Amino acid sequence: MFQSSVYANRRNALRSGMSSGLVLIPGNNDSPMNYPANTFTFRQDSNFLYFFGLDHPGYFGVMDIDTGKDYIFGEDVDIDDIIWMGPQDSLAEKALFAGVEFTGKVSEGMDFMKQAIALGRKIHFTPPYRFDNLLFLERILGLNHAWIKSYASVELIKGIVRLREVKEDVEILELEKAAAIGYLMHTTAMRMAKPGVVEREIAGTMEGIALAAGGGVSFPVILSVNGETLHNHYHGNTLTADRLLLCDAGAETASHYASDYTRTFPVSGKFSTKQREIYEIVLAANNKAAEMAAPGIAYQQVHLAAARVIAQGLTDLGLMKGNVDEAVKAGAHAMFFPHGLGHMMGLDVHDMEDMGENFVGYDNEIQRINQFGTAYLRLGKKLKPGFVLTNEPGIYFIPALIQKWEAEKINSEFIDFQKVKQYLGFGGIRLEDDLLITQQGNQLIGNRIPITVEEIERFMA
Ligand code: GLY
Ligand code: MN
Repeated sequence: MFQSSVYANRRNALRSGMSSGLVLIPGNNDSPMNYPANTFTFRQDSNFLYFFGLDHPGYFGVMDIDTGKDYIFGEDVDIDDIIWMGPQDSLAEKALFAGVEFTGKVSEGMDFMKQAIALGRKIHFTPPYRFDNLLFLERILGLNHAWIKSYASVELIKGIVRLREVKEDVEILELEKAAAIGYLMHTTAMRMAKPGVVEREIAGTMEGIALAAGGGVSFPVILSVNGETLHNHYHGNTLTADRLLLCDAGAETASHYASDYTRTFPVSGKFSTKQREIYEIVLAANNKAAEMAAPGIAYQQVHLAAARVIAQGLTDLGLMKGNVDEAVKAGAHAMFFPHGLGHMMGLDVHDMEDMGENFVGYDNEIQRINQFGTAYLRLGKKLKPGFVLTNEPGIYFIPALIQKWEAEKINSEFIDFQKVKQYLGFGGIRLEDDLLITQQGNQLIGNRIPITVEEIERFMA
């Protein structure tokens, strides 16, 4: 945990931007895997971590906007818990680490909330993403669970996003630790990739590195020779010398700050000409985005600039044709690059996505573009110092998508389908770094994992 003042300051900052009422932040509970006592690894809710710090199941926090008081409710451990799980501080003792003086049992918290509701006070909460917390809110609010999400407080969501999107210095230090773990995961994958190795041997080793460093992975490892499937979690293929291996993975620190990197490299350790030609285009798009990302620039513009680099490169290779600007305007590049350039990152790898992507990545000024490909861009709005985000362009040869576009003649004036079909079986390439927006521009979080063709070939040798 950070110092207690960090949490108190955050709660006061949130409160000072809000009108009135109570903010209710349910922490997460243990989640059963196959029977109640056999649970998935506990992951605390990120808003609870941000405002109340305690990494323990079964709590909920309340901030009173009008009185300035904060509360944590939960049960203290009893002797049975101590026998099975060891001794623990009391909730009152733990709450002081987050600067919270007022604590109580869950039933007392429920009564407290019900009294506030009876007085007609407004209860602010964010959309729940776990069913137990949905039912918890149903019980507290007396609203049917089917309607709960529509009562989520936009005022609260916007208040939280305004705070969490700008990272504090203590958070940046944690993000750098997560980056260092990510570096070790990816360079280990590069060392392990050899013909005959099965994908899961590498994926499992990467996850083990993350676990050994304290927090585990920030999302399930994406690792495949079939990198054209954007989120490929099947790890049963045996590596062969002719394939590229796409590896998209990151770690959480023990305090749950994330990293998220992607590298793609040849199993043989040497790029073929065909692989290198596509790789250099993706790298140029990544470099272009890193050159542009700065305060005041909309990430939507950076995404479109990266798309133009991709379209230009593919046009130079003969896979696309016609005017590059018009091709990107028509969305033709999206057959090869059907996702967004990046997302915010922090306590969540897709930071704050539980509260709604449009609240995090867009605003009144910059709205989502509803065109295939660009529509998946999670972060489009203007950048500010303190934002932490990913830069992850890619080029993929997705057989089903190529088939569909050819059959339906989608953007056929910009794509040479005969040439594209020579790349079926190529896979996909994505290159992802994590950036901190500074006053002047941006800087990488952590050291850059080998990324140029020369760096990768040298490293793998
Ligand atoms: N690295 C996985 C993702 O950004 O969705
Ligand atoms: Mn990512």
